[in-house]
Amino acid sequence: MMAGMTKSWVKQRKRDGYYRKAKAEGFRSRAAYKLIQINERFSIVTEGNVVVDLGAAPGGWSQVALELVGPKGVVIAVDRKRMEPIEGVRLVRGDLSNPATMEAVLEEIERKVDVVLSDMAPRLTGNKHVDHGKSMSLAEGALKFASQTLGRGGCLVVKVFQGDMFPEYAERTSKLFEFSQSHSPKASTSSSRETYLVAKGYLG
Ligand SMILES: C[S@@+](CC[C@H](N)C(=O)[O-])C[C@H]1O[C@@H](n2cnc3c(N)ncnc32)[C@H](O)[C@@H]1O
Repeated sequence: MMAGMTKSWVKQRKRDGYYRKAKAEGFRSRAAYKLIQINERFSIVTEGNVVVDLGAAPGGWSQVALELVGPKGVVIAVDRKRMEPIEGVRLVRGDLSNPATMEAVLEEIERKVDVVLSDMAPRLTGNKHVDHGKSMSLAEGALKFASQTLGRGGCLVVKVFQGDMFPEYAERTSKLFEFSQSHSPKASTSSSRETYLVAKGYLG
């Protein structure tokens, strides 16, 4: 490494690199590349799928999912924040912890869901224990949502900030699916505590 190239400089470059790439390629967030990389590795979203994207704003994952499902698929984007519409994506605004949000999503779906994606993240406090706890409760919400909506064979991808509650969550999730693995895509910065639990083959 050249003199002056500190780790944080490299990290910043990487972040800026994905940021610039997202702008150039028309994605609303650099987070889009995390889903692209997860999907390249695990083949989660495929043509014709019904996909629910939890914590979707500003919409990078929904853009990627829409391309992957194609014209016969359905993408429903859920967020408590307002999100600019994306042509072809159905928007549901609401907090996932509110039962009315779940009902609004169910109204949008005519058949079982193939993939539940959750990139939901809490408002960070900077205290890693508090942030971990908040992220786990969002992950619990995503798992509950997935259990109520996924068809047999369905997939779940859920973001968590790692910490002591994660192993039990991962263990419990693994029993509901044929396959599960935690994975940190290259587009996640190495310093970040985030990882994605990728689960395939919902046992119903
Ligand atoms: C990291 S951003 C998602 C970025 C998105 N995947 C993309 O590619 O543009 C996390 C989102 O989770 C949403 N969120 C957090 N908690 C939520 C909750 N309880 N219900 C719904 N959305 C939530 C936030 O409003 C925020 O927009």
